[in-house]
Amino acid sequence: MCGIVGYAGENSALSVILESLKTLEYRGYDSAGISVLGSGIETYKSVGRIANLEAIIPNEISGNIGIGHTRWASHGRPNTVNSHPHNSGSPCKISVVHNGIIENYMALKDQLIAEGYEFKSETDTEVIAHLLHKHIYERPDGNVAKCDLLTGLRKTLKELEGSYALGVLCADEQGKLALARKNSPLVIGLGKGENFAASDVTAFLNYTRDVIFVNNFETAILTPTSVEIFDGEGKVREKKIERIEWDFEAAEKAGYEHFMLKEIHEQVSAIHNTLAGKVSELEGTISLDELNMSDEEIRKLSRVQILACGTSWHAGMLGKYLFEQLAGIHCDIDICSEYRYRSPVMNNGTFAIAITQSGETADTLAAVREIMSYNCPTLAITNVVGSTITREANSVLYTRAGPEIGVAATKTFSSQLTLLYLLAVKFALARGKLSPNHVKEFIMDLRKVPGQIQQILDQKETVKEYAEIFAQAKSYFFLGRNLNFPIALEGALKLKEISYLHAEGFAAGELKHGPIALLEKDTPVVIIATKGQTYERVLSNIKEVKARDATVIAIANSDDTEIGKYADFILTIPESNELLSPLLSVVVLQLLAYYTALARGCSIDKPRNLAKSVTVE
Ligand code: F6R
Repeated sequence: MCGIVGYAGENSALSVILESLKTLEYRGYDSAGISVLGSGIETYKSVGRIANLEAIIPNEISGNIGIGHTRWASHGRPNTVNSHPHNSGSPCKISVVHNGIIENYMALKDQLIAEGYEFKSETDTEVIAHLLHKHIYERPDGNVAKCDLLTGLRKTLKELEGSYALGVLCADEQGKLALARKNSPLVIGLGKGENFAASDVTAFLNYTRDVIFVNNFETAILTPTSVEIFDGEGKVREKKIERIEWDFEAAEKAGYEHFMLKEIHEQVSAIHNTLAGKVSELEGTISLDELNMSDEEIRKLSRVQILACGTSWHAGMLGKYLFEQLAGIHCDIDICSEYRYRSPVMNNGTFAIAITQSGETADTLAAVREIMSYNCPTLAITNVVGSTITREANSVLYTRAGPEIGVAATKTFSSQLTLLYLLAVKFALARGKLSPNHVKEFIMDLRKVPGQIQQILDQKETVKEYAEIFAQAKSYFFLGRNLNFPIALEGALKLKEISYLHAEGFAAGELKHGPIALLEKDTPVVIIATKGQTYERVLSNIKEVKARDATVIAIANSDDTEIGKYADFILTIPESNELLSPLLSVVVLQLLAYYTALARGCSIDKPRNLAKSVTVE
């Protein structure tokens, strides 16, 4: 997730853009940049926050049209060269800011290099700048425009696969800013003698509250006095002007009361971004080039060792089930703070996976150093490009969930799970445990998950209602079997963290071996009872709980006609592939924790005693 802004007006573009960018820093702040169109295009970029950028820009820079970007790296390290805007032409003819992911950028890059374009950065965005240049100026050294900016933009968009919100300047189109959108947010602000564009309205709320939301496949041309919007066919579109009534803080959360609720909703796009460019349902293949491992090398492995803490450890636990059940490879999972002190025995053929959303957790880094001291190949799964773990592990897979501001992890967890599914299926393919046909079906089911999460989010009022009923409970229990056991643990952790209620997660079959003594009349017990190989056993566990007069809240599939006979309350998830249902159940549990904390008046985004990144051992 990055933030883009654009300005076309009577004032100096520089000051408006810098001010707007500062309000978008919550979308990422590893580097920033700006281009201003005056007599030519001038570009300035810098690593770090907007203040660093401000410090390197000369005061005399002039121009009334401009674009800016604050970056959350997804392709290429956070450094000045990889920062946006990306330019093409010498002297610069095209300048581009981009939020999104271009999935086919490697193929486009090869083609553009063959045509004579020189690439400076490691980013996917640079292909857009050169493609625009190619369509408008025809040749890398061409300086005379052969078509206008809008025509060139439309030709370029036809070649892009993936997601984008784009702001584009062209040196030969004075007074104009071009925009385009597909699956990344983009909104236009309407002022007097000036118009604005940004990833969200916070960027220009100080200037105007009249906005037009740009839809997928629409393009736009902004000048200081006009806004023209076009549909995918290039026909002018009449758009509704909306008035924003939110205050600044609410706007930063896109109207959600808390970042955590926003991030729970963002799981729909986060999973989509995690998958982008990595799966082909046509061929039944998983491409994880970052793994740097051939199928032959995967076949030679005898064991996977996962290392993580907290929520990431729950993701890793599910990973163990997936590696063993799908790929038939032995897998261990360890809590990092324990791993170092238990003198682990290292087998030949071990492959290590460290999972950490922040990439900075001290315990995880220490465990990685320990396992790497045995020369064990180590993969990091993280959300933060350039974080410490990315410099230490042998290879890195990024979750691409965008910055997570709420302390309680939500979208980074589901993105970690998504990568673990892909890894386990890739291992299964390489080891001959799944055929390409099975993989095709699995990918098709995985692609349905974001839509299924949306269906759960659409029913969040029921979760809220139940959360309010039990908000004052003394203790809460969460039970699950098999793949749902780690999800039960995660449900309990989320509730503890943000509502300060006592909550425990157990393997449902373990209840009778001790924890059942804790059950009292009316204790809420959340039981994940989705269809699958342990369903009947889970129904027996529900009966055990009911026999102690506790209250059962079941998470069940929407087509389950049996569960109503056993559970007191039911929260449904759509029917799905059994293996993938944890990705759905966890969303219900995140919402339950959120609404419980809301009903208890807790500080949801910044819970007491917790930090987003735990950098001490
Ligand atoms: C829970 C949570 C923590 C983290 C843990 C590890 O919501 O966020 O339990 O999962 O501190 O953090 P990372 O994944 O950054 O290593």
